[in-house]
Amino acid sequence: MDPIKNPFSPGAGSPPPELVGREPVLEQARILLGRTLAGRSEKSLLLTGLRGVGKTVLLNEIQRMASASGYRTIEVEAHEDKHMGPLLAPSLRRLLYDLDRLAGAGDKVKRGLAVLRSFISGIKLTVGEVDIGLDIEPERGVADSGDLEIDLPILFMAVAEAAAERKSAIALLIDEVQYFNQKELGALIMAMHKVQQRQLPLVLIGAGLPILPGLAGESKSYAERLFSFPPVGALAEADANKALQDPAQAAGVSFDTAALAEIFRMTQGYPYFLQEWGYQTWNRAVDSPIRVDVVTGATHDVIRRLDENFFRVRFDRLTPSEKKFLRAMAELGPESHRTGDIAAKMSVQVNSLGPVRAKLIRKGMIYSPAHGEMAFTVPLFDEFMRRAIPDFNHSGH
Ligand SMILES: Nc1ncnc2c1ncn2[C@@H]1O[C@H](COP(=O)(O)OP(=O)(O)O)[C@@H](O)[C@H]1O
Ligand SMILES: [Mg+2]
Repeated sequence: MDPIKNPFSPGAGSPPPELVGREPVLEQARILLGRTLAGRSEKSLLLTGLRGVGKTVLLNEIQRMASASGYRTIEVEAHEDKHMGPLLAPSLRRLLYDLDRLAGAGDKVKRGLAVLRSFISGIKLTVGEVDIGLDIEPERGVADSGDLEIDLPILFMAVAEAAAERKSAIALLIDEVQYFNQKELGALIMAMHKVQQRQLPLVLIGAGLPILPGLAGESKSYAERLFSFPPVGALAEADANKALQDPAQAAGVSFDTAALAEIFRMTQGYPYFLQEWGYQTWNRAVDSPIRVDVVTGATHDVIRRLDENFFRVRFDRLTPSEKKFLRAMAELGPESHRTGDIAAKMSVQVNSLGPVRAKLIRKGMIYSPAHGEMAFTVPLFDEFMRRAIPDFNHSGH
């Protein structure tokens, strides 16, 4: 089929031709946004799921919903090597200047800027990487202690009060939340706690790996009362079929039943893989309906592309000992495994694996779905590891 008309869109954050199976999460977001605008409190949302399930796409969709219902939005993405303060400060500055341009009396916006200015001087002392011009005097002694758990709640309240005074509301969208350290996550939770207690118009919608509820709970035990953690996962078969068939039919093409069944078998309903199989299959097909042999013919190309892009970028960031650990996990199969079994596969003592396991968790490669168990954060990564290092016995374990 004509590649120019190919409706499928594999890629990080690429909007799918149809956002299938996510109505419950979007409805939850709609309620959160509506209630907060009406001055009623509601739990913030932290979407959790593996890589490639569509969290970023959902955050972007919720950002659109928020802006359509009158919110001012801030979008940021956390990184392993970037602190929360410097990440948020530039967007908050821009937002406050925007609020300043809105009509309305009162001094809360100026105060917000002054508090932001003090906050920046506080983080400058602790992380020394922020330099943002603000032509306003800091409010000394407020939000400038350098202790994020003290300063961030004060800053959030000042910003939210500024928005309230200008009859506006703020939606803060944060991707890859699991990369914040414990102190930062604790500060974020405390800040949202204060905002919600005062029913101020600021909502947080975040997304991250499935370790997020655990991290938040460890940081602050009351996190579960403040946040809801909707899981985002693979699509059920009917939804997966719809994600392929509807966009194809909109372009005058269809998949036959066996072709859809084969794609589901290969992808297990994971959104990223559905887009990738849909995309390659479309390009190979010469007529409609697309039959199963076209799918099987495309599989080789799909796997090569996944290996080169989706999997390889993650693999290349690993040290040799991390690769060995993951290869041993892959040898045990796709599900989650007890650390003891991984150690046994590698013929080493369990406690010697602690540091490498911690680094892999930090890099977002594995997570602990249950106590003492480890699983891959990237679907089908076990198969990739077996392709990347075919012979386990010579992987140097
Ligand atoms: N509900 C959905 N139905 C079909 N495809 C989807 C859906 N959500 C996301 N995708 C596709 O999945 C891929 C990964 O989405 P992304 O939001 O980057 O995932 P994540 O942020 O969880 O890693 C993209 O190619 C996107 O088009
Ligand atoms: Mg993402």
